[in-house]
Parts: sequence; C-alpha cells; structure tokens
Amino acid sequence: MRTIVFATNNPNKVEEVRAIVGREYHIISLKDAGIHIDIPEPHDTLEKNAAEKSGTIYRLTGSNCFSEDTGLEVEALNGVPGVKSARYAGEHSSSTDNVNKLLAELADTNNRKARFRTIISLIFDGKEHQFEGVCNGTITLKPSGDAGFGYDPVFIPDGASATFAEMTLDEKNRFSHRKKAMRQLLSFLSLAGK
Ligand code: IMP
Repeated sequence: MRTIVFATNNPNKVEEVRAIVGREYHIISLKDAGIHIDIPEPHDTLEKNAAEKSGTIYRLTGSNCFSEDTGLEVEALNGVPGVKSARYAGEHSSSTDNVNKLLAELADTNNRKARFRTIISLIFDGKEHQFEGVCNGTITLKPSGDAGFGYDPVFIPDGASATFAEMTLDEKNRFSHRKKAMRQLLSFLSLAGK
C-alpha cells in the first residue's frame, strides 16, 4: 500500500478521506507523521491556503503529501464566510459559534442557497497539482444532527432531505465536496500510474 501524508490536524477530515480512498493508499495525518505544527492559513483564497499547507509539509518531510482547504460560500452573503469559515465568529470561535453567527446573518433572508468548496493541493514528486470539489445545498433554519463537524448540522446538500450531520459517513460521502475533490486526486494518481 502506498503512503501519502494528509497535511491536516482535523481527525474528521482524515476519517472522511480514509473512507474515500479505501485500501489503495495509506493516509497518514500530521500527528501520525510525528509533525506537531499548526499550519497557518494566512491567505485570501482557498487555493493559496491549500498550497501553503502542502508546501510547508513537503519542505519538512520531502514526502508526497496533500492538503485541503474548504469554505462554505453562502449566496445571500456574497460568498461569505468562504475562506474565513473556520474563524467566522472570531479568531478562536467554535463550530457552534460559527453556526450561530451564520443563522443570525441569514435570519432576514429567504435565500438559503450555499455551497461547500474544497481545494486539494497535492505535491507529488515535487510538483503541485490542485483539484476542486463543490457541493451545492441549502442552509437550514436551525441545527439538526450530531454527526460530522463544522457547519454539517445546518447544511442539506441538493438531492438530500437531511443535513450532513444527520448522515452516516458513507451517506455524506455520496454528496460531499471533499469526496469530489478526492476522486479527482485519485484519478490523477491512477492515470499517472502512481
Ligand atoms: P478548514 O478547511 O479546516 O479551514 O475549514 C474551514 C471551516 O469550514 C471550518 O470551520 C470547518 O469546520 C468547516 N468545514 C470544512 N469542511 C466541512 C465539512 O465537510 N462540513 C462542515 N463544515 C466543514
């Protein structure tokens, strides 16, 4: 089995990605790789932040690795919180704080359309490749469900009747932005014979 470092400290993302790649690749997190750093996300686009994360880990390890950056883009808020999704309610805000702020901002609008957008940055044999995955959906009026993380309790993907937080991992992965981006990464690796 081939090993790839996933440049993240988020155990939910690692679990999702492992369920997507199956047995072909061994995905190891930063913690598994013995790397204990918090990689900054200083940029104003998902693309630049993803590249920053994979570049940092590649420089540290010299190993093939990938990172991802995800944002929730809400139509009525002109794409906000977007790249700032993790810090929407403030620098050290919790997911509950972020969700509450989002629901408050949308209190006066009927347009609940939103999308998750993921950018994966893969560094393979020293070269960077990016892949995008988008999941369109709507923001609910109140949180529902305990599974998942982040904005999952208030997001219903198009074609579903439950929030991501009411789904099993496999159900979420039928719709998910991260799954769509990962599929492209996997097909790139298989086309490249890696
Ligand atoms: P980041 O990609 O780790 O910077 O995540 C940005 C923000 O979006 C964080 O608040 C995450 O909790 C949230 N987020 C990222 N991916 C998902 C997802 O799949 N579902 C719900 N929230 C997510």
